Amino acid sequence: MNRNAFVCIILSLPLLVKLSSAQSKKFVCSYSPTKATQIGYQPDYIPLEICPYVIFKAFSFPTIVGRQMLFNDNDKIAFSSVVSSVRKRSNTARVVASIDGSARDFTRASSATVRRKAFAQAAVTLLLELDADGIELNWKEPGSTHAGRGSANDRITMVQLLQDLQQAVKAASKSRNRNRELWFRGSLHTNVMEEAYNMFDVCELVDHVTLDPSTTDYLENSHAPLYDRPSMLNTGNGYNTTTQYWIDEGCTAKKLLLGIGLHGISRVYSPSLIRYVRGRINLLDHVGTHLEQRELCKTIRAAGWTYGWDEYGAMPYVTRALPDEKAERISYEDLNSLRLKMDMVEQKRFGGIYIDYVHSDDIYGSCGQPYSLTAYLSSRIRSIPSEIGFAIEWN
Ligand SMILES: *[C@@H]1O[C@H](CO)[C@@H](O)[C@H](O)[C@H]1NC(C)=O
Repeated sequence: MNRNAFVCIILSLPLLVKLSSAQSKKFVCSYSPTKATQIGYQPDYIPLEICPYVIFKAFSFPTIVGRQMLFNDNDKIAFSSVVSSVRKRSNTARVVASIDGSARDFTRASSATVRRKAFAQAAVTLLLELDADGIELNWKEPGSTHAGRGSANDRITMVQLLQDLQQAVKAASKSRNRNRELWFRGSLHTNVMEEAYNMFDVCELVDHVTLDPSTTDYLENSHAPLYDRPSMLNTGNGYNTTTQYWIDEGCTAKKLLLGIGLHGISRVYSPSLIRYVRGRINLLDHVGTHLEQRELCKTIRAAGWTYGWDEYGAMPYVTRALPDEKAERISYEDLNSLRLKMDMVEQKRFGGIYIDYVHSDDIYGSCGQPYSLTAYLSSRIRSIPSEIGFAIEWN
């Protein structure tokens, strides 16, 4: 046998495996134990053949006990049942533990050396005791302008906390010889993005930044708008603009994972007031009602709805008249709006997407094939040529 050829194959095999795993786009399904329990959805139902990554949402912020920080026992039990269900069914699927925290929680934890170490230590227990493949920080509303609820120092202490966490995650990867990852949830709110992040450093320190679609400023009628509506405020709330901010501020596109919510938002308003708010229905019903896809798909199939398409949001909506001279408008996602969002993911060369939540989809198949939106998004992700393909094609 030709010894050189043999050596060559041996040497190139690990390289090929490494390249293919590094280059493929990620598809991440989130799972909320609280929401899943309400509808009797078990961890065993998570379709791992379409969800190679599962993100558990979420651990509540650890409490400070003496010099330690400890996670809640119920969260640990719920997380362990997801991990054991996934390990039992797959050797390759990975589970990320997300940690929720208010701006105040994270400001306190990050602003003193001792607390940063305690938080990193607590994170290590998630990796080594509970066998998480990664952790994600969901630091809500950092910064201190009207959009943030933390401190003006968050921008600095955030980087310090991530440095400590990166070291802890690396050490945990070595001790069990398995790669563990550090993820960070990023806002798409213009004020938060401008003030609260040192994006260059944040992106350098973490494996992925997950861009949270629910943080978008609610100025548009569409709840997950793709493009900006021309306005005198010139804010630019469409994802095409807000996600580009992360890239322009020094984040490698392949580290970014765009969040896509499998739900709609319903708003009730008075059509007679519409002209006073320049057609912005959300100003008349700021909060709205959250409708998961599995319920929503049935609701909008009923009689009495008028179908429309929001040109700037690039999303569908339905409206209907209600008694008392009111009207209802539901903004939602369909295969057309998701196709346009995926075109953007592909065009901007993001690292992939995550969906909120896998159990929000039409899990029972009430309106067609079960998990139809999830399956579509997964197939789109798989069809994106690898970065190597791009390199050959374009460079
Ligand atoms: C989307 O963003 C890219 C990058 O900033 C820009 O070149 C493109 O024109 C935008 N597309 C639209 C339709 O606004």
